[in-house]
Amino acid sequence: MALVTTKEMFRKAYDGGYAIGAFNVNNMEIVQGITEACREEHSPVILQVSKGARAYANHTYLVKLVEAAVIECPEIPIALHLDHGPDFETCKSCIDGGFTSVMIDASSKPFEENIEITRKVVEYAHDHGVVVEAELGTLAGIEDDVKVAAHAASYTRPEEVEEFVTKTGCDSLAIAIGTSHGAYKFTPEQCTRNEKGVLVPPPLRFDVLEEVSRRLPGFPIVLHGSSSVPQEYVKMVNDNGGRMPDAIGIPEDELRHAASLSVCKINIDSDLRLAMTGTIRQFLNEHPEKFDPREYLKPARANIKELVRHKLRDVLGCAGKAD
Ligand code: G3H
Ligand code: 13P
Ligand code: ZN
Repeated sequence: MALVTTKEMFRKAYDGGYAIGAFNVNNMEIVQGITEACREEHSPVILQVSKGARAYANHTYLVKLVEAAVIECPEIPIALHLDHGPDFETCKSCIDGGFTSVMIDASSKPFEENIEITRKVVEYAHDHGVVVEAELGTLAGIEDDVKVAAHAASYTRPEEVEEFVTKTGCDSLAIAIGTSHGAYKFTPEQCTRNEKGVLVPPPLRFDVLEEVSRRLPGFPIVLHGSSSVPQEYVKMVNDNGGRMPDAIGIPEDELRHAASLSVCKINIDSDLRLAMTGTIRQFLNEHPEKFDPREYLKPARANIKELVRHKLRDVLGCAGKAD
């Protein structure tokens, strides 16, 4: 199977009450860990590349790694997506350069400007058989070189979504309902504590999601900032020389619930980073004499694979949905 767009994936996910995982890729081991899990679980998958990933690894290397995964995993649909495209030129370069999906993120711009930029990308993308994700609302946290403080974040306004989608022609819409980028999604002050003293984050705004879906029936919704920040990996980092105090993510049961509704794409990056970094830290701590990168990248890749397998089966619900 060649690279596919997300059109068919989203239609099936919407009807089937599950979501497709959109995992960020930056190097070979990450691509392999994700796609080996998807292949074994027979899951469709979106591999996404940020502006930072293109700057780090180079566009061509990333496209060729993803094309290698398509050859190695012929039974599953794979889409190659630009994550947080900052402008028309970046989107165009990815559309011309082999991507099947792009995000134009003009969510920090005024409403009319967001519509204008998004519509321009949609026109070019659709002429080239590529689909477009757009965004309304502002997430907190860190994405690429942009840091948005919690007080500057704003939920998506449901009353804007019909006009936005109609005027832009976008194929999916990322909305802000309380998720956040990075490994520090909430401050301890924003959380409560359960009976064991463990921090519990504020719940996602499912009322906003439901109102958006009521206004856009059948339309695929995207959630960014959806890492759960597994505490076993935070501990692995901290027990092996790292320092990530108060790292906290989105509870997985909330993501599962979102996936059963209109959310068709769930973005996960920070969890992969944690699995990789925790594993490498632990390995090097336990084997200070080792210096062959293959020896620590191998268990890191294996743990990424297990993490992704868990997401596909227990969070996204897309295991077995490749056909
Ligand atoms: O939303 C941002 C993603 O986690 C990508 O992060 O820009 O550091 O590659 P990055
Ligand atoms: P996390 O930082 O929660 O993994 O979010 C990733 C993301 O939204 C990529 O666009
Ligand atoms: Zn994002």
